[in-house]
Amino acid sequence: MSKSKEIPSRYPSIIEIGDYEVDTWYSSPYPQEYVTRNKMYICEFCLSYMKCHKTLLRHNEKCQHYCPPANEIYRAVHDIHKIGPTQLSVYEADGGKCKLYCQNLCLLAKLFLDHKTLFYDVEPFLFYILTRNDEVGSRIVGYFSKEKPSNIIPTNGAQNNVSCIMILPQYQGFGYGRFLIEFSYLLSRAEGALGGPEKPLSDLGRISYTNYWKYTIINALKDKNEISIKDISEATNMTTNDIMSALESTHMLQKDPDKKTHAIYLYKKDLDTSNKPKLSVKPSELRWTKYIYPNSNRLYDDDDDDDESSTTSLEHSPER
Ligand code: ACO
Ligand code: ZN
Repeated sequence: MSKSKEIPSRYPSIIEIGDYEVDTWYSSPYPQEYVTRNKMYICEFCLSYMKCHKTLLRHNEKCQHYCPPANEIYRAVHDIHKIGPTQLSVYEADGGKCKLYCQNLCLLAKLFLDHKTLFYDVEPFLFYILTRNDEVGSRIVGYFSKEKPSNIIPTNGAQNNVSCIMILPQYQGFGYGRFLIEFSYLLSRAEGALGGPEKPLSDLGRISYTNYWKYTIINALKDKNEISIKDISEATNMTTNDIMSALESTHMLQKDPDKKTHAIYLYKKDLDTSNKPKLSVKPSELRWTKYIYPNSNRLYDDDDDDDESSTTSLEHSPER
């Protein structure tokens, strides 16, 4: 779970969150008085941070939250490698409405993200929080943030569909990162937009995206003899720049020296096995409508029962 880093002084250097004690990777600008000790305590439901364990225990007794303070827009049971069937949810938090929670989320994320620096100006963003659910509640696994979609769609139809993405180290490597990447493209599809991650990508971000892109492009190419980059973009909601970058970095795009043209090369081994996801989103379990900027105060409508296309709130599990 720990990652060796050259910088010795990270503040805090350890966090306790839920059942896990986690070595941090980078410093995060928590208020100075909270990072005087090496270890900090974080409530895994509301993300409040505390200096000592006693305060966390007192907090746990009175914390009202058993899930992120946000709209649950996805819930499904997934078979997780080495863990088995697990209920996962995705919650959508509006940075303008759940300001403190989203700021705490950004501070937590910064502990594992080097180059992104959004902390306090959370209003222009939506946050999608992935949780694993059990009899106690919905425990945070990771998240991605996304700028609220603008009413003015750029002429190329493309908007960043992820600003920052992070999976907590104790949950990395199980397929959750790729699950959230797939989820971000599902939202782009529902919005009728092309999308892609904000650049630059971290090293781990680049690996995860390239694997997802490669797999998705290969699926779009299956059974096609002739296809343009634009066709791939329409089929996958990926931007043409991201498609080109994925094809080049995986050496699938090669120049034909005689004809001076480019061709996409697919190898049978790629078609059979390439980067199959450990976890796949179940699109039918999405309950979501597009954010209307700037004056919508309900993201989905519980009362609209007779309109099949309107989204409905997911019922909370009886245990919660
Ligand atoms: N080394 C090599 N490959 C890896 C590693 C690693 N350490 N970690 C993941 N991968 C590969 C996996 O094999 C997998 O490949 P596959 O899809 O072909 O199976 C792919 O990357 C994704 O693996 P997941 O298990 O789905 O990813 P994970 O849950 O670990 O999350 C993430 C990936 C979000 C990048 C995570 O590593 C993380 O939070 N890192 C710190 C924050 C960060 O760097 N975020 C991205 C910044 S860029 C941006 O925000 C737009
Ligand atoms: Zn709490």
